[in-house]
Amino acid sequence: MLLVTGANGHFAQAAIENVRQLLGPRERFVVTTRNPSSEAAQNLTAKGIEVRYADFNAPETLGAAMAGIEKILMVSTVGPNTQRFQMHSNALTAAQAAGVRHVIYTSFINASPDAITEHSRLVHYPTEQKIINSGMNYTILRHSVYADAVLDDLEQTLSTGIFTRPGGERAAAHIARDDLAFSAAKVLVGDGHKNRIYTETMAESVTGAQIAALLSEVFEKNIVYRNMPVEDWADYMMHTMGLPEFAARSSVFTLKALEAGEYDLVTSDYETIAGRPPRNFRRFLEDYKSGLK
Ligand SMILES: NC(=O)c1ccc[n+]([C@@H]2O[C@H](COP(=O)([O-])OP(=O)(O)OC[C@H]3O[C@@H](n4cnc5c(N)ncnc54)[C@H](OP(=O)(O)O)[C@@H]3O)[C@@H](O)[C@H]2O)c1
Repeated sequence: MLLVTGANGHFAQAAIENVRQLLGPRERFVVTTRNPSSEAAQNLTAKGIEVRYADFNAPETLGAAMAGIEKILMVSTVGPNTQRFQMHSNALTAAQAAGVRHVIYTSFINASPDAITEHSRLVHYPTEQKIINSGMNYTILRHSVYADAVLDDLEQTLSTGIFTRPGGERAAAHIARDDLAFSAAKVLVGDGHKNRIYTETMAESVTGAQIAALLSEVFEKNIVYRNMPVEDWADYMMHTMGLPEFAARSSVFTLKALEAGEYDLVTSDYETIAGRPPRNFRRFLEDYKSGLK
């Protein structure tokens, strides 16, 4: 039996829909969430998907959640970076105990113990190490920066004509979250990719000015890139984008890493896994504009 965790999250929702389509209507699979009574979770139940309760912060919930599962798409959690590894560790311990044979994990580009990116150091790298040393088969999907982050303040970008970020002088690889949901579903549903680490990026790495130029073309409005001091980023995220403080604080490290070139890496791994190329930035924006995302 297959399992996707975090069923109420954006990435997981998209991955689940892809799994459903790839498996066809008669094959059963399981999803877990902290909130099985949400509208989104109830929609999954109505489609015949088994929804189980699981909270990675509550190890006592995880045994029943993992019972009978052979392969799991473990979606990295959202929360303070100081707590996320423990959540993942709890889930992995339960998976081992339940006899799960293969773990697919959504990690982050260039995860390493000395990364500038805080969540790479504190969350993704140690989680990868725990998975690799667990004895279970694994597929680590290191996601590049979500292109979707450009949408968080798109309204302001379009109204002011200014796309503002720290670090935009350096190119960075991006990728659309929905594309990553498709490739993760392919790995979950298919065979192979055992004990591999992939880095999923678009086929291009882009600067802030290049993103501004693409926004100008797609939204038919003059938009320029303006650098923002990295010290101002957390407040901007909280007040303009409405992100919680823990996410804004973590994101300062992410933007410092971008400034240092930590994400300037392009691979062809996405096509290897998905069997088709990822959308480029222009196509991602065009799809968003036309309501496809
Ligand atoms: N590459 C990037 O640029 C980038 C950007 C943002 C996030 N991410 C990572 O990608 C993942 C998916 O992003 P998203 O946009 O789907 O985030 P999201 O919509 O905010 O979803 C949060 C996810 O975390 C899960 N979660 C939180 N606390 C949990 C807990 N205690 N136990 C189990 N699951 C828990 C949620 O599951 P339930 O609510 O269903 O329990 C949900 O799947 C995130 O979780 C984050 O690790 C990557």
